[in-house]
Amino acid sequence: MGFVIHEDTAEAEILANSRIKQPVLAILTIEDDLQLFRGNRHNFADLIDAGKENGFLVYVVTANQLKLNRKTINGFTYDPGTDTWMLQKFPFPHLIYNRIPLREDELQPEVRRKIAACLRNPNVQIFNPKFFNKWSLFKWLRQSRITKPYIPATSRMQSVSGLGRMMLQHRFLYLKPVSGKAGKGIMTIQLQPEKPLPYRLKIQGNKGSTTYNCGTIGKLWTRIKKESTGERYIAQQGIHLAAYNDRSFDLRALIQKNQRGQWDISGIGARLAGSMSITTHVPRGGSIEDPEKLLVGVFGQDEANKLLTKARNTALVIARQIERGSRRSLAEMSMDLGIDQAGNIWFFEANAKPMKFDEPDIRKRSLDRIFQYSSYLLRTKDK
Ligand SMILES: Nc1ncnc2c1ncn2[C@@H]1O[C@H](COP(=O)(O)OP(=O)(O)O)[C@@H](O)[C@H]1O
Ligand SMILES: [Mg+2]
Repeated sequence: MGFVIHEDTAEAEILANSRIKQPVLAILTIEDDLQLFRGNRHNFADLIDAGKENGFLVYVVTANQLKLNRKTINGFTYDPGTDTWMLQKFPFPHLIYNRIPLREDELQPEVRRKIAACLRNPNVQIFNPKFFNKWSLFKWLRQSRITKPYIPATSRMQSVSGLGRMMLQHRFLYLKPVSGKAGKGIMTIQLQPEKPLPYRLKIQGNKGSTTYNCGTIGKLWTRIKKESTGERYIAQQGIHLAAYNDRSFDLRALIQKNQRGQWDISGIGARLAGSMSITTHVPRGGSIEDPEKLLVGVFGQDEANKLLTKARNTALVIARQIERGSRRSLAEMSMDLGIDQAGNIWFFEANAKPMKFDEPDIRKRSLDRIFQYSSYLLRTKDK
């Protein structure tokens, strides 16, 4: 094959290098006026580094920079020596890993168009095409006989009569924004019929929570509307979670596709709730724990082992059903699973853009898996 002489020598050099067939992965994000691009920069730097170890060239690209008809792309790389991000030209990527950090960014028309164009483009494979919303997840998981038993009763919160019907069946409810994350906007209702003010509403604030006691469901509804600030919500059967030292906890599983293109568990961690919190999020006073320690503490060693195996298998069947429901090919997700006091497993939510896991072994595996799965995609692409 002859050389094409380019006016732009930098471009010629880049193209010559890319003929060596090094696989190239671009981390997709969005531009930012103040800091070049958005997203978790530590995560991006770790990905670039893990890419090197796995034989990949990795760079960060914004939706704007990603021009699908070019041979070279402007993107960013990280220099650990000087701790700076640098603009450079890179070869067009074989794979695009979507890490656009915010829903609202991903919903911008030009970003949606760019992602749709990537999905159509035969020269590139994009994974993690979009965020999930909580209501779609429940619809998908209800459709399968296998996943249905793990789903708490859930409905859209649209009317006071609907909420009333739900309260007849469940005295404990979680109210959650459809597009929420990190515990934002979450409320609980507890019905205590023997009390003069029987509806107890708890609202999760940044540190602690606020409680309102309401006499009628009408008053309760008014208060909920005021607090929910126009967001769409789901109402969900509240699960009485297993508790360790009087604090409830749940499991966070990271599920990724592996070198054979199959869903696999990269790790399961546990999050123990802060004492004043209705959720287990670390920024709200929760802490990271070893799941085995918590489960052994509550259920004993034998039952704990069984539960962990069951949680892993459950996470895998749920991941497969979510992928089916979304009708997209996915590469990874994280999942929040609850275990109730009787040892039943419950699905709370899955995230299409998992946050960094702080457990070092899970972290390492999660980075390597991105490239193992990428290699699988490249290997099987043209078959
Ligand atoms: N139905 C429920 N019953 C009991 N606890 C719940 C329920 N739903 C959520 N939680 C608790 O609240 C946390 C946050 O809920 P989640 O659905 O993951 O929302 P977010 O997107 O804000 O993380 C869960 O990890 C769990 O600890
Ligand atoms: Mg969550």
